[in-house]
Amino acid sequence: MKKVIIDVDTGIDDAMALSYAVHSPDLEICGVTTTFGNITVEEATRNTLQVLELIGAGEIPVYPGASKPLVRELKEKAKLFHGENGLGNVELPLPSAAPQVMRAAEFMIATIKEHPQKITLITVGSMTNLALAIMAAPEIVSLVERVVVMGGAVTVPGNRTPVAEANICADPEAASYVFQSGIPITLVGLDVTMQTLLTREHLQQWRESDTKISHFFADMCEVYMDAYAKVGNVLGCGLHDPLAVGVVIDPSFVTAYPMHVQVDTSGSASDARTIGDRREQPASAPNVDVCLEVDHERFVEHFLKYVM
Ligand code: RIB
Ligand code: CA
Repeated sequence: MKKVIIDVDTGIDDAMALSYAVHSPDLEICGVTTTFGNITVEEATRNTLQVLELIGAGEIPVYPGASKPLVRELKEKAKLFHGENGLGNVELPLPSAAPQVMRAAEFMIATIKEHPQKITLITVGSMTNLALAIMAAPEIVSLVERVVVMGGAVTVPGNRTPVAEANICADPEAASYVFQSGIPITLVGLDVTMQTLLTREHLQQWRESDTKISHFFADMCEVYMDAYAKVGNVLGCGLHDPLAVGVVIDPSFVTAYPMHVQVDTSGSASDARTIGDRREQPASAPNVDVCLEVDHERFVEHFLKYVM
């Protein structure tokens, strides 16, 4: 079993990623850390506790993290996609468990040091917690097994701006800092996640399986799919955060290419863009493995098998 920490801004697809990770026989979740992005960090922490309790995993500890970007102001919540509460306005009972007192970055550092070369960190929200962890303990760069980041759009358009993806947009300086830190990164961006779609037919199957969890996921995803249809005429919704979990479970779901990637922090129209050097003779050594192809049918089938 691979030991993982999952850093979330729970979020509809974050909720699905958590459930997929919890039910996968290949992963051991050491803890979940929270950040801002789709919603505030307080809401992300509450949603994470609620979702974990719903799926019977309330014993997994949840560590609250950063409430704002490293240097910028907090951006608007992603209400159109994730609803006012982050879970498509579907209400869950208030959590009975409380979040941990230890902060997210501290937990990342302590766990990575306790299990050298054994922890895979999966970030599916802003990269602020990881940036803070590396700033406080640079040695984790060589102690972590790998960081799998859901973020970026290297060869395709963005979703938050014409060129930038939401998780990188949430804190471009944090993403830039992490990318330059030397930590081993696999980037699971829109290049591949927009090829892994959940459809209305899948939601119908969930409704027919008629459990509390399947109805919760189907109701939540209706809101997500409505937003995709409105904004991009997409018939379904991208399984962004679940694919990052999938890549840890089975790296052969994707094909990744080593590349030098930098994050634009200029504040101009190209702000938060992930710029990959795809030239035959790049100016700098690769710092990121960028996923550009995905076996979407095999991944979606695996996701559907283990998400609940
Ligand atoms: O761009 C998709 C990402 O932004 C996902 O992680 C989603 O949850 C939002 O955070
Ligand atoms: Ca997310």
